[in-house]
Parts: sequence; structure tokens; C-alpha cells
Amino acid sequence: MASLPKLIILPLFLLLLGIAVAPLKAKDPEFDYFTLSLVWSGTMCLNVKECCSTNACCKPIAKRGFTIRGLWPEYNNGTRPSCCNGEAFNKNEISGLRKYLEYEWPSYNCTLSSACGSPKESNWAYEWAKHGICANSVIYHHVFNYFFLTQMALRFYDVTRILKNSGYRASDSADYSVRDITFAIRSRLSATPIVLCYGDAVKEVQLCFNKKLQPIDCPTTKSGLLYKSSSDECPSRVRLPKLRKKNVISESEKMNDLSFSGVQNW
Ligand SMILES: *[C@@H]1O[C@H](CO)[C@@H](O)[C@H](O)[C@H]1NC(C)=O
Ligand SMILES: *[C@@H]1O[C@H](CO)[C@@H](O)[C@H](O)[C@H]1NC(C)=O
Repeated sequence: MASLPKLIILPLFLLLLGIAVAPLKAKDPEFDYFTLSLVWSGTMCLNVKECCSTNACCKPIAKRGFTIRGLWPEYNNGTRPSCCNGEAFNKNEISGLRKYLEYEWPSYNCTLSSACGSPKESNWAYEWAKHGICANSVIYHHVFNYFFLTQMALRFYDVTRILKNSGYRASDSADYSVRDITFAIRSRLSATPIVLCYGDAVKEVQLCFNKKLQPIDCPTTKSGLLYKSSSDECPSRVRLPKLRKKNVISESEKMNDLSFSGVQNW
């Protein structure tokens, strides 16, 4: 799937910020900044236990490189709000985005989870109930705006492309300095990200944004143990595993897979 050309993304993104980012309203929960959590699909699919139609590792069309895990409001003191009051998730609001969300914000799981007492539902419902709803003071109360803005942020701050253009390619053998990877992202966004690993495989890159969704250095408290269990820490040399899809489910999907194989570079 081709991503939107940059020429379209930039004005759309800026326009959207004007529309969707609201001035603070006193009654809403206050927070300090956002984290955009991006996961490396090749690492998410390293150990797939179970295949089902919702698991991106088993889908014929899966995005290479980074996909969205979530956009989280955060406090400067190293904690984050969760399960705030507000508009309930409504899947009809994002039905127009769904095709793109399936690709850019997929689930890597067959198990549905519930957050904050809401019923077990999609990963999008989970992220909304746990995190998205807490951004109500900044992103107008619309479920749609939260998902659309997050998706635009993935495309606009295209970390997959930044790494590719800096020579860091998906590979099962090459290893790279995690400091160099961090620096490559930092030099393009003028803001320091956080890189987390699963063993020596890059699992997650977190970008931090102010409440106008401009990149900022991720606060250093975030690299402390409050956020990062020691098992998430990266060794000095890391890999970006290639995406290996698992047992793709049906024959017809296998045929789709073939017709797409030339399109995906990542
Ligand atoms: C962090 O800050 C928030 C907002 O000011 C506050 O509600 C929360 O209790 C604080 N948590 C800690 C552990 O200090
Ligand atoms: C899948 O969901 C289960 C249950 O919610 C959770 O424990 C597990 O970490 C999830 N796996 C992934 C890859 O997200």
C-alpha cells in the first residue's frame, strides 16, 4: 500500500492540528506531553503463538517497518493518566479510517483485551479507553480526531523512512549501534526518541510531542525504570528483524499475498 505523498500530508496535518487541537478546558484532566509509541512489525512477529484474522503477523498484507501502538498523554513526573472520563469508543466514528488503521495501527494479538472496565474489544477500543480518552483536554472529544491525528503523525514523522534513508535496513543478520539509530532519528526530528528492545531486536521507538504535537526530547525520567523494565533495555548493538509472516490463513489470502509481493519493500 502506497502512503500518501508528503505534499498532501503536510498541509493536511497542519490543517488538522488547527481543527483538532483545542485550547485547554479547565475541567478536563491535565497532562504534560504525548508519547507516540511505534512498534517494529518484524519484532512483533518474531514469536507468534497463534494465528487469527486479527493478528497482523498472519495477514497477507502487513506493514513493514513501524506501526502504531498508541498515542499516550503523559505527566512529567513519570506517570501517565489512564481510564479518564469522556466519550466512549464508537467504532462507527472510525469506519472511514479502518482500512488504513488495519494496516498502520494493527493488532499483533488474537486475544482481545479490555481496558478500564469496558468490554473486550479491538486494540483501538483498548487504546482509546486507556489513553486516548485522557487527551480530551487537547484533542477535541472526537474519537475520530484521536485516531486520525495519530495516523497522520505516523506518516508525517516517518521513522521507518528515516531509518531506511540513514542506511538502517531490515535484516536478519546486520546489527547496528543503538546510539547511531537514536541519533539518526534525533537529527531528523530535532528531538530525542526512546528506543526499546526485545533481546537484541528493536521492539519500539517512542517519540515525544508537546501538546501542539511538535516533537520534543523525550523526558529523561522516561528512560528510568518507571517506564522501562530492564528487559526492555537495548544492548549496544541491535537488529531490525525482517517481517516474517506466519501461517497465512486461507488460500485466497495466499493469492493476494503473491500479487502484493512486489509492492512491499519493507
Ligand atoms: C504525577 O502528576 C499527576 C498530575 O499532576 C498527579 O495526579 C499524580 O499523582 C502524580 N504522580 C506521582 C507519582 O507523583
Ligand atoms: C496479547 O494479549 C495478551 C492478553 O491481553 C497479552 O498478555 C500479550 O502480551 C499480548 N501480546 C502482544 C504481542 O501484544
